[in-house]
Amino acid sequence: MSDESRPHRTAAVIPAAGRGVRLGPGAPKALRTLGGIPMLIHAVRAMARSRAVSLVVVVAPPGGTAVAEVRRLLDEHALPERTEILVVPGGETRQESVRAGLEALPADVDAVLIHDAARPLVPVDTVDSVIEAVRGGAPAVVPALPLADTVKEVEPGMPGEPEPVVATPVRARLRAVQTPQGFDLATLLRAHEKIAVDGEGATDDAGMVEQLGVTVVVVPGHEEAFKVTRPLDLVLAEAVLARRRATDVY
Ligand code: CTP
Ligand code: MG
Repeated sequence: MSDESRPHRTAAVIPAAGRGVRLGPGAPKALRTLGGIPMLIHAVRAMARSRAVSLVVVVAPPGGTAVAEVRRLLDEHALPERTEILVVPGGETRQESVRAGLEALPADVDAVLIHDAARPLVPVDTVDSVIEAVRGGAPAVVPALPLADTVKEVEPGMPGEPEPVVATPVRARLRAVQTPQGFDLATLLRAHEKIAVDGEGATDDAGMVEQLGVTVVVVPGHEEAFKVTRPLDLVLAEAVLARRRATDVY
């Protein structure tokens, strides 16, 4: 089949299998609520809001109970009917969870977004601009923002000890990377086959594609696509949601 006649289908994989250790004790991070709604549901809605996304694969914490719990939550909350949703169990690392999600994709999918459940508030315009760049021919696309802080590379020492600075990269050339990251599916699968690392695994999908020697491009990210990582991020997320509800943008 020629490129023009090939069916194009974009899916989103949402890794949601992490525990959320840095958020502190409580339920797995993706199941914690924001504005009374689980973070995972916000993330699924954020992907489903894009008309180009017709399938969402949610990667739940490993084990049958968590998969059933995620299915129950998805049934309980309103989601657009045109979006198909699958749930699969994840793995010990984010890389393994992403791979489990990719393995669940049907054969007609040729472009994929990988989106952290921990970035529940990404605006649909950011999602669409990633998809547009992939559809425009870029094999790997990441949304990213310039940094507010200057960044130093250090030689990590013993905890509590001062650490020597090794380098100070020019801030204007740095970007903080967000999700959804968008890929030509064949390229991302190749990266998982060839580049996957043991142990802690890769935390950045685009980084694996870079190691194949494929060019990754950056499109503008959005402040509201921040990752809920530490307790203070929950405060910010609640504030963003409250403002959206008050101004009724969503
Ligand atoms: N993730 C996953 N499977 C894992 C680890 C992480 O699917 N084994 C997912 C998380 O659920 C999250 C995303 O990857 O949506 C980004 O990871 P991170 O923010 O580090 O979340 P956690 O690993 O849950 O948090 P922490 O590192 O603080 O434990
Ligand atoms: Mg983690």
